[in-house]
Amino acid sequence: MRSEYKFSEITSTQDYAKSKILSGDKNFLVLSDYQTDGRGRSGRAWESTIGGLWFSFDEEFYEKNNLITLSIGVAVREVLYEEYGCDVKLKWPNDLILEDKKVGGIICEKVNDRVLIGIGINTNNKKLSLDNAITFLNFTGKTVENYSIMKSIINRCEDFIKAENSVIIKLFRNNMAYKERQCFISSLKQKAKIIDIDFEGKLIVETDKGIKEIISGEINLCT
Ligand code: BTN
Repeated sequence: MRSEYKFSEITSTQDYAKSKILSGDKNFLVLSDYQTDGRGRSGRAWESTIGGLWFSFDEEFYEKNNLITLSIGVAVREVLYEEYGCDVKLKWPNDLILEDKKVGGIICEKVNDRVLIGIGINTNNKKLSLDNAITFLNFTGKTVENYSIMKSIINRCEDFIKAENSVIIKLFRNNMAYKERQCFISSLKQKAKIIDIDFEGKLIVETDKGIKEIISGEINLCT
């Protein structure tokens, strides 16, 4: 049984969860209505206003976890599509995209023998400072129950973490954002066309000098 730590306000559910693991706790979730210092990948700030879904939870870390971020993305997409009818696409490696805009993000961090998964989804929050972001509320005009989305997502993640790599890769491919479109690839410092992911989860792109494999970095749609 997972313990639940629920807050109306916190600095970051991810930082709180990290401190819990470091003090020997495991098998828990941390949920907050609002984060004053939410963080995304590469140390970026993560806007976390009231109404959105902001939570972190831990799982055992084991070697197959090289595809963990992709597995979590696939799990979140399945829940949002099957239970809420939102055709969320997956932008490699960790973004949740709706109508070409960012509706959420995933961060996975190894802490001792645990993997800490942080998920942020713009559900019922109203104000977004970024132009290229969207909320469920913008999209459907309806509010959703954050706690029940979170529970479904955690259940689905627990299944997908144990799934075969080939299953994860197939589902990610089928729901990949920006396929065949020109994007700016940060690690290449140039534009390229998004082609696919390979069996190890690497991103395959086509540049003016041919096909390249990408192992890290960001992609952004060229307008
Ligand atoms: C990203 O797109 O860079 C990942 C964003 C992850 C944000 C979530 S919100 C809940 C958890 N707490 C944090 O401070 N960050 C993650």
